[in-house]
Formats: sequence, structure tokens, C-alpha cells
Amino acid sequence: MRIIVAGGDGFCGWPTALYLSKQGHDVAILDNLSRRKWDDELRSNSLTPIATLEERVAKWKEITGKDIPIYVGDMCHYDYLREVFRQVNPDAFVHFAEQRSAPYSMIDRDHAVFTQVNNVTGTLNVLYAIKEMAPDCHLIKLGTMGEYGTPNIDIEEGYIKIQHKGREDILPYPKQPGSFYHLSKVHDSHNIMFTCRAWGIRATDLNQGVVYGLDTDETMLDPMLVNRLDYDGVFGTALNRFLIQASIGHDLTVYGSGGQTRAFLNIKDTVRCIEIAANNPADRGEFRVFNQFTEWFSVQDLAERVKIVAEEQDLSVNIAHIENPRVEKEDHYYNAVNTNLLDLGLQPYLLTDEVLRDILSACVTNKSRVIVDNVMPKVSWK
Ligand SMILES: NC(=O)c1ccc[n+]([C@@H]2O[C@H](COP(=O)([O-])OP(=O)(O)OC[C@H]3O[C@@H](n4cnc5c(N)ncnc54)[C@H](O)[C@@H]3O)[C@@H](O)[C@H]2O)c1
Repeated sequence: MRIIVAGGDGFCGWPTALYLSKQGHDVAILDNLSRRKWDDELRSNSLTPIATLEERVAKWKEITGKDIPIYVGDMCHYDYLREVFRQVNPDAFVHFAEQRSAPYSMIDRDHAVFTQVNNVTGTLNVLYAIKEMAPDCHLIKLGTMGEYGTPNIDIEEGYIKIQHKGREDILPYPKQPGSFYHLSKVHDSHNIMFTCRAWGIRATDLNQGVVYGLDTDETMLDPMLVNRLDYDGVFGTALNRFLIQASIGHDLTVYGSGGQTRAFLNIKDTVRCIEIAANNPADRGEFRVFNQFTEWFSVQDLAERVKIVAEEQDLSVNIAHIENPRVEKEDHYYNAVNTNLLDLGLQPYLLTDEVLRDILSACVTNKSRVIVDNVMPKVSWK
């Protein structure tokens, strides 16, 4: 297949582009490199020293002989996006290219507006580009499990059967997003669902859990292919953040009681889920939703598991319960369905102590790069 990986310079997009290229697909990367600029804005960095996008793809070609053309530009510029579609004529468009940090979207009005304009416009543009330039192209869009929030009933995959006053229907599952970022994903989902119905677009919305880990088989082929690893209070996510905190002797920062339960998956499974979605395209007009995660944990459970593994390596670790900067339930029911990807063949790569040890060891190797000032959360929801 000819596949565009939009956001292919990012944490999920880079290993996905390499994995799909390795499987024999013709992959092109589209990215405006804004993630690197947000690091500059926040005076932050990736824990791992990442090469430029040009260096990365040149190294991939040197090692594998496979070409990954890169298109550096903004999905929000429609003429540019159309031109990329004209040149690539994609069978699938994998859309990672959004501002993906909840805290970044909550910094102030400007960041909330930027997040929603960037994310919603980019997705609308790709829907129009598919309609106009490649009507059979399968949109594989990254959503998030955070679209659902934490309802007091089981979370289904996109839809729920409702009985109301003696009648029955299957309707979109109710959404209770917890930040302006998560709201942007819900807006995207609605826009995609509408265009599937109105224009016959084929789309898969992947409601992804929190992704942890660093390496895939492909990124480990050479230091220049290393993936980025975020740890700061704005872009760092639970688990990866705890492991990095443990590596530098920082308290593990559990927000509030730590009872918040979230769905997770390893980056090694992200890349396989995307391939499974690409190999099994949605039908024309179908808005398909997969919950893309393999396990769920409470934040407190994760902190305790990291503590055990880190202490085995003589790192001294303290779990600190700090005031929760977010507005979220800390004690709640959580039970989410994830059978669609498993039914299509996903074999989960689960979180074992060995996996934790591997990520921790990468963190220890790079710990001198941590800017300690950036570790604590500074953005409040209130
Ligand atoms: N990382 C996670 O834990 C996680 C969890 C659930 C969902 N997701 C979703 O997966 C996707 C990828 O996440 P990630 O962690 O790799 O993020 P990331 O920030 O590392 O990568 C996103 C990439 O998209 C690019 N980008 C952003 N806006 C763009 C635009 N307008 N035009 C072109 N390029 C643009 C950025 O430069 C960056 O390289 C996001 O949509 C995110 O919401 C991520």
C-alpha cells in the first residue's frame, strides 16, 4: 500500500513509519516539525537525543535500502495537503499529526484555541482531501480513550445500544472528555463520522490508550533511529514519566490519591495496531471505532510497580501524592472493551517487570539530559 504517516516525526508516528516501511509498504512522512518547536517554547527536550527528520530517514535508507519521502508542512494548509495527496495518491492516511498534550491545551486561552484549530482544521482538511483527491483512501485516525472519560458503566467500542421509551437504537457512545485537547478529539470524531455518512469516506477512529515504552525493533537498529521520549510536566505521560523520575531519584508524582485508572499499551503494539487497521480497511461510508489498548492500570499501581523494579536496581524511590492539577475523578469504575483489534489478530505485548526494566535502563542511560525544573506539573485546570 501507499501510506502517508502524518505526524511521522513524533513519538508514535516515527516507529510506525519505520514498521510499515519494513513490512514493504510505500511510506511517506508528512510533518510540520511543530513538536520540536513546542519543546523550544517550553524549554524542554526529549530524554533521548533525536536526530533531525532528514538524518533519520537517510539512516533508514542506508540500513534497509528503503526510501521514506518526507513532506515538511502543515496539515492546516489545504493547498499543501492536496499537493501531497496528488504526489502520493495514498491508499491509507495514518493521522497522528495533532497537538496531543492535555496540559498544553490547558495553559491559557491561546493554547486552547491553537490546539482545537490545529487539530480540528487538520482533520477537516484531510477529509476534504480524501473526498477530492483519493475517495477510496482509508483514513486511520488517532483518537484517544480519554474521549470517553470515566462513566460509571462499561466503555464500549464507539457505539452503545440504547433503549429509550420502548424504542431501541445503536448510537455513538457518550463522550465526557477531560481537557480542551480531549475535546478536540471528540470534535474530530464527529466530523469524521459525518463525512463517512455524507461522502462515503472510509475511516477507522483508533481510541488509543496512554502509550508507554521507547523502542521498537526498527528504532533499535541504529542510535540515529532512536524514538523521542517525553518526561516533562506538559508532554510526559504516566508510566514513562514515573520511570524517568525513578532514574534521576525524583519523587514519583502521583496526582491526588492515584486511583485514576487509564488504558495503556506499549509502543510496540501501537505500530502493530496501525498495520492491522491498514490491512483490514473500513468499508466505504463506514465509521469504525477500535479501542486501542491492551491493559488498564491505576496511576498508583503503576507507581508501585516502578518503585519495586527501580529498587531492585538500587535506585531509591519515593511515591509522592501531590495536589492534582487536573479536574478528574480519583476513585471511579473502569471497564473498557477492546475486542476489535484482538479479533483481527493483535497479540498484546503486556507490561511485565522485564519490560519495565528495559525502559528504565534506557532512562538511566540518558538521565543526564533531564531538565529537572521541567519535571513537576505547572499547568492547572482551574
Ligand atoms: N502518546 C500517547 O500516549 C497517545 C495516547 C493516545 C492518543 N495519542 C494520539 O496519537 C497521536 C500521536 O501522538 P504522539 O505521542 O506521537 O504525539 P507527538 O507530539 O510526539 O507527535 C505528533 C506529531 O504531529 C506533528 N504535527 C502536529 N500538528 C501538525 C500539523 N498541523 N501538521 C503537520 N504535523 C503536525 C508534530 O510535529 C509531531 O511530530 C496524536 O494524535 C495523539 O493525540 C497519543
